Amino acid sequence: QETAIIVVAAGSGTRLGYGMPKALVPLAGRCLLEHALDGIELAGCASQVIVVLPAGAPELEERAAGHRLKPICRTGGATRNDSVRAGLDALRPETERVLIHDAARALTPPEVFRQVVLALLSGARAVIPVLPVVDTIKQVATDPGEEQAHIIGTPARGTLRAVQTPQGFHAPALLAAHRQAAGWKSPAAEAVTDDAMLMEMLGERVDTVPGAAAALKITTRLDLVLAESMLPLHPG
Ligand code: CTP
Ligand code: MG
Repeated sequence: QETAIIVVAAGSGTRLGYGMPKALVPLAGRCLLEHALDGIELAGCASQVIVVLPAGAPELEERAAGHRLKPICRTGGATRNDSVRAGLDALRPETERVLIHDAARALTPPEVFRQVVLALLSGARAVIPVLPVVDTIKQVATDPGEEQAHIIGTPARGTLRAVQTPQGFHAPALLAAHRQAAGWKSPAAEAVTDDAMLMEMLGERVDTVPGAAAALKITTRLDLVLAESMLPLHPG
């Protein structure tokens, strides 16, 4: 009964603007990657943990290697998808289930990991945590010569969900999806922004479980302030 979790932490954190990889940014004395690994440890559902790190970040490597989970470390690539692939290369062949998680969602509650794994154990081949959307979302287009986009449609808000991680998969199905996508050329390759989308494109059903506000993706300074204010509530 093998469940692997791949934590992608190879991004640069440009929008946060700390001049260091985002996963190394401190939050109450621990870096974001350590917080993410703490949540996984508390969830207690992983038999193998793989962390994907940026090239040339020895301090982050040390933090990862020093964690109680003793994760396997790999070097990521230019895009998130490349980094996921680097993580998948480290999977043990007997892996039955794999979760892909953003280190940037550092305060994801353990319960979300458990719900995703439970859904896979109940037979789902792909499952993602989602939250209802609070904003009205518009679709836009930009005509040639036009400076600002104009609205072309408004999807019914009740049918929309904001997507979080960990995203869970039947491991052989996700591996097959990535093998197939490996041959895709631009712009199809760039259009893949998460693993669930890859499964959808191959006609696989993707199920949902409830996400959590605390699983927000720490992207900007404001997100970091929010995360700081949440820490006392976080069991890690
Ligand atoms: N990620 C990755 N490899 C990349 C790009 C992103 O492993 N080449 C990871 C990030 O480390 C993060 C997650 O994917 O955990 C989501 O990415 P994002 O929030 O965009 O993080 P960054 O790319 O680091 O931030 P920015 O886009 O502001 O530079
Ligand atoms: Mg990014």
